[in-house]
Amino acid sequence: MNKPNVVVTRKWPAEVEAQLKEHYNVQLNESDIPMTADELKFALQTADALLPTVTDVLNADILGVANKRAKIIGNFGVGYNNIDINAAKAQGLIVTNTPHVLTDCTADIAMLLLLMSARRAPEGERLIRNQQWKGWNPTQLLGQKVTGKTLGLIGFGRIAQAMAKKAHHGFGMKILCYAPSQPDPAIMADLQATRCATVEELLSEANFVSLHCPGGEATKHLINEQRLKLMRPSAHLINTARGDVVDSKALIKALKENWIAGAGLDVFEGEPAIDPEFLDLNNVALLPHLGSGSEETRIAMGNRVLANIAAFFAGHEPDDRVV
Ligand code: DGY
Repeated sequence: MNKPNVVVTRKWPAEVEAQLKEHYNVQLNESDIPMTADELKFALQTADALLPTVTDVLNADILGVANKRAKIIGNFGVGYNNIDINAAKAQGLIVTNTPHVLTDCTADIAMLLLLMSARRAPEGERLIRNQQWKGWNPTQLLGQKVTGKTLGLIGFGRIAQAMAKKAHHGFGMKILCYAPSQPDPAIMADLQATRCATVEELLSEANFVSLHCPGGEATKHLINEQRLKLMRPSAHLINTARGDVVDSKALIKALKENWIAGAGLDVFEGEPAIDPEFLDLNNVALLPHLGSGSEETRIAMGNRVLANIAAFFAGHEPDDRVV
């Protein structure tokens, strides 16, 4: 039997690429240069499965290309706001993602940013790297204690819950959440968590606010100037979700004018471009979208895509079908 044609848009971990080579006629991307819109269209016309990742924008124009061969899009990533889901549906394309396997690593990065921001780690590191450190003194770079403080999570899915577990059981933090639907009572009881009725209530009560909602139109600029003003002057905002959930200009203003104490960001509006004003601010910790970036997790994400397309080509429903 002929092997299906598969196009992978970016470089993947070597052991997952080896699996792809074994089971498919695969076009890999050795150069790791992002594919153009025309290349993505051509891939949809020539491959049975297209395997993009969260930085490949698959809009209605690309998905609507004539004479498509592709039947399935196996996204390498849990978030799929890079794909116009309505257009994919209209085109009869199946879309899958990679949930579960990146939960802990992304929660770890959220916790890392929280600690970095609270304890002024980026400033401390710069002091040493710039050879400006004159030695310990009682008032140097005083940050805020994390243990025992209140963490507010906006969105309360798998990653938020994993962060809440680390924060509550590891750091004795009090947990608040804002979730559109009632979270599992057993999880709430284990975390001794309180569900806030509004985002506003959570913002005004939390010492640390961490964002865990999906990206896209529904959550664009959910954190805006008005809401930033509700946060405590000693509070920190952590974003490992999607850049456009936060209005960056408003956040820059909040950090400059000390409406809040700090922020920790792993994602940015329009990334990889970053508003240059962030670079001049001392009270922000910046990471380059590292949430799922551990060897184990990226291999697991690749394997999840492999399992999804294998199920599809065997005539079964893929486990992680989103459309
Ligand atoms: C995702 O999967 O959505 C992350 O942003 C990248 O791992």
